[in-house]
Amino acid sequence: MENKNNPLVIFTPSGKRGEFPVGTPILTAARQLGVDLDSVCGGRGICSRCQITPSFGEFSKHGVTVQNNAISDWNSVEERYKSKRGMIDGRRLGCQATVQGDIVIDVPPESQVHKQVVRKRAEARDILINPTTRLFYVEVEQPDMHKPSGDLERLIEALDKEWNLSSLEADFSILKKIQTALRKGEWKVTCAIHSDTNSNKSNIVEIWPGYYEGSIYGMAVDLGSTTIAAHLCDLQTGEVVASSGSMNPQIRFGEDLMSRVSYSMMNSKGDEEMTSSVRAGMNELFSEVAQEANISTNLIMDAVFVCNPVMHHLFLGIDPFELGQAPFALATSNAINTKSSNLGLSQMHSASNVYLLPCIAGHVGADAAAVALSESPNTSEDLVLIVDVGTNAEILLGNKDKVLACSSPTGPAFEGAQISSGQRAAPGAIEHVEIDPTTKDPRFKVIGSDYWSDEIGFEDSIKSSGITGICGSGIIEMVAEMRMAGIVDGPGLIGSPEQTATSRCFQDGRTFSYLVYDGSASNGPKITITNRDIREIQMAKAALYSGARLLMDKFEVDNVDRIVLAGAFGAHISPKHAMALGMIPDCKLKNVSSAGNAAGTGARIALLNHSARSDIEKIVTEIHKIETAIEPRFQEHFVNASAIPNSVEKFPILETHVNLPLINFNMGNSKEGTRRRRRN
Ligand code: FES
Repeated sequence: MENKNNPLVIFTPSGKRGEFPVGTPILTAARQLGVDLDSVCGGRGICSRCQITPSFGEFSKHGVTVQNNAISDWNSVEERYKSKRGMIDGRRLGCQATVQGDIVIDVPPESQVHKQVVRKRAEARDILINPTTRLFYVEVEQPDMHKPSGDLERLIEALDKEWNLSSLEADFSILKKIQTALRKGEWKVTCAIHSDTNSNKSNIVEIWPGYYEGSIYGMAVDLGSTTIAAHLCDLQTGEVVASSGSMNPQIRFGEDLMSRVSYSMMNSKGDEEMTSSVRAGMNELFSEVAQEANISTNLIMDAVFVCNPVMHHLFLGIDPFELGQAPFALATSNAINTKSSNLGLSQMHSASNVYLLPCIAGHVGADAAAVALSESPNTSEDLVLIVDVGTNAEILLGNKDKVLACSSPTGPAFEGAQISSGQRAAPGAIEHVEIDPTTKDPRFKVIGSDYWSDEIGFEDSIKSSGITGICGSGIIEMVAEMRMAGIVDGPGLIGSPEQTATSRCFQDGRTFSYLVYDGSASNGPKITITNRDIREIQMAKAALYSGARLLMDKFEVDNVDRIVLAGAFGAHISPKHAMALGMIPDCKLKNVSSAGNAAGTGARIALLNHSARSDIEKIVTEIHKIETAIEPRFQEHFVNASAIPNSVEKFPILETHVNLPLINFNMGNSKEGTRRRRRN
């Protein structure tokens, strides 16, 4: 019952309020009201996680006036903490300061248990920090001959009593360390505890004597067919402390997924070879990232992986044979929660858990689920098409009523592979291009320089990198610009010098190529676009477009409201050029945005917030999967989408922004061909 004589305590920003007897610690009041105020040391004045800011004066909004003596005096514990570690002026330790009168208390973001990590893009949701593995400081009763019990039993009892951690178990490795830790810490220890929300079980993963000052970490991994990207996150702040990427070492068994499936079919133990190669690559990457962050790999206590179904199976050590043939059955589509040791992950804590997001279907994997988690099409008011561009494109289309998903085998062309002058995005690679429609001369920008190639300063800016090739986003712009400048026709043929009126087009075997840059005078490369390169891009973009178009058919729409380009280089793709190429459907350019590596972000969300894991496990059951391989219209869409931009579909919005000349170089001489085509 409320006692009217008790002071009123109001917390901001939550607005939670209640009356508490004089002398109640602010941390106790916060806990009783369910205010999100952190504590690792359980109110012992050691961890400083409970910092709060009391406010004084008139608060008409809350109907209180706070006197200067509404909170207890600064005490010696706070003084000791401030002199040793420092504390912002005006801050107090919530476990030390007590209520003396009506008071307004602000909980700063860094003192909240469930902090938000702010994502940079305006439309992206912030990530709530609520990790599976957290630190707990506890004081344990000393052994007593009259009440015989083991050290572990007393530790578990103390953790339950103080932190309400029931169903607690300890990893076997803890038994070896517990006695030394308890005695060295004078019966005070810090434990890292992993909690599994589904089973309601908690497990002690690590133990330190006394109060452990450091942090613990988790790894969010996007395991792609071509590249692996890993982000090391601080599990307490949510911050990404180091990131790194590497090529998937399985590439030597085949560039695309199907060639890896056939490698496992053709070679006995082929799947095992690929499993050990990807696990070895993962261990190398983990150790590299930990080194970059200057932490021991033993502090990596959680990891989340997202990958396509074939990578998923090979990483788990499951033969992907069934994924190579209809009905593309997965060994399991459920999320996987297992020990790191089961996956041969030696470069993280040996008792840590790892989590793989659920797969959506045999061809639509955990990476697509991660994109759905990051971009939330299932809550979108308007119809959004999300395209995760990679060797295998994941495509999602939907809104709050329904979400459809498919994947499409685009191949590695968008990553610069199988393109004569293609290369990975690195300094020296051409990433932006413009071609003058009159002179047909290109100007370009390379990674590492802010200048266009025809600007003063360009030569100096590329001295160390040189001009080395064209990266994936550069290829998209290049082919689209060639089409817009009349160097390539709709079916995808490069014209002759006569047809295009430029000597940059030259005979190259039975077809023509276009010269972008000739560095031979200075021993540099000659960068050209061959007709074969154009074909590779046509195949890749047609696969991507037809997947999207198929989902639009199923949704019974001809237009989408918004397009989100995701993927490792999704952020670098120019929407105008992607549309001119016919890679994505016609849409208002301002409604095409980039999400960066959305699959990686989805992995990070699942790493930092364990309730996001149950969210995505539920969401995937509601996503309708479309298997492109067995859809009769896929082939028809693919053929139409092989033209640039498309032989059937119209792009009226795009045409208000760019000029796409009506030319066909395969009809005798260019002028004739052009005239005939125009009359049509
Ligand atoms: Fe740890 Fe206050 S709760 S210092």
